[in-house]
Amino acid sequence: MINIKPKVFVTREIPDPGLEILRKHCEVEVNKEDRVLTKEEIIAGIKGKDALLCLLTDTIDEDIIEANPNLKVIANYAVGYNNVDVNAASKYGIPVTNTPGVLTDTTADLTFALLLSAARRIVESDKYMRAGKYKGWAPKLLLGYDIYGKKLGIIGFGRIGSAVAKRAAGFGMKILYYEHDGPKDTGIDAEFMEFEELLREADFVTLHVPLNERTKHMISHKEFEIMKTNAILINTSRGSVVNEEALVKALQTGEIAGAGLDVFEDEPAMKPGLAELDNAVIVPHIGSATIDTRNKMATMAAENVIAALKCEVPPNLVNRAAIEKRVCKNAI
Ligand code: GLV
Ligand code: GLV
Repeated sequence: MINIKPKVFVTREIPDPGLEILRKHCEVEVNKEDRVLTKEEIIAGIKGKDALLCLLTDTIDEDIIEANPNLKVIANYAVGYNNVDVNAASKYGIPVTNTPGVLTDTTADLTFALLLSAARRIVESDKYMRAGKYKGWAPKLLLGYDIYGKKLGIIGFGRIGSAVAKRAAGFGMKILYYEHDGPKDTGIDAEFMEFEELLREADFVTLHVPLNERTKHMISHKEFEIMKTNAILINTSRGSVVNEEALVKALQTGEIAGAGLDVFEDEPAMKPGLAELDNAVIVPHIGSATIDTRNKMATMAAENVIAALKCEVPPNLVNRAAIEKRVCKNAI
C-alpha cells in the first residue's frame, strides 16, 4: 500500500497543540501571514487538499466549496459557524464541525468582565487616572450602577447563557431568560420571560444566541425603546445580532445607559460614533481568548479533521445531512 498522507489547509496559524495533531497524520499547509486571506487565496489554498481548517474571519461560501467539492471536512475554529455556508457543504457531502463546550466558561467570564466594567465604569476610570485627572476622592466621582440585586436578562440560554447565569447567581442577581423554543428545565434559578417582557424588566441584557436569519438585528431601534434607560447591553455573541447603528444612537441619546461589546457588525470596523462613546466598553472579539482555551479549541478542531479523514463521524459535526451523502475514499 502506498502511504499518501492527506493534505490539510489551515487558513491562519492556530496554537501548536492543534497543528501537532494534524502533522501526525497529514501534510499540513498553514497560511504563515498573520492576516485574513482573501477568497481567491482560500480557493488557491484548498486546491488539491482533503481538509480545510478555517476561522470565524473566513467566509466559506458556496464558491469556495464548489472550488473543491472533494474536501472531506471543513473544521471551523470557533463555536459559531455562521461564516460557513453549511447548506452548500451538506449538498456536497462535506461535514462541517465547530468547537463547542471548551470555550463556554471562558466566554462567560469575558461576558461578566464586560458587565462589571460597563456598570462600574472601569475603562473610563482607568483613562481618568492615566490622564492625571484624579484630584482626590469625591462624593459624585464616576458613579456607576449596582450589580447586586439587579435583573440580568439572558437572551439565548444555551451553554454560554447558562454559564453566565451561574456567575450572576454568585453576584446576587435575579436571572431572567428568553429562549426561542420557550422555557426549559435549566436546573438554574432563572425565570423564563417573553422577549419584550425581558427587555422591559432587565437592568442588564446579555446576548448568547447564534447568528442566523432569525437573530440578525434582534436588538434594534424598537428594542432599545423598550429597554430601561438604566439598562446595559452586553454582546459577546455576534455583532450582527445587534443593529450597531441603532445601538450607537441609543447610547448617544441615553435610551440605554451603557454597553459592553466584544463583537461588531463589520469586524474589524466599528460603526461611526461608537469609539467616541464613554458609556461603551469595547474589546476586540476576545471572548475565547485565553491560552488554555485556544489550545483546547485548536486540539478540538484538529481532532474533528482527523475523525473526518478516518471517515468517522466527527465529534463536533454540525451538519448530519453531510454524513448521509459523503463518499468515503482513501480514509486514513
Ligand atoms: C467565537 O466567537 C466563536 O464562535 O468561537
Ligand atoms: C455555545 O456554546 C452556546 O450554546 O451558547
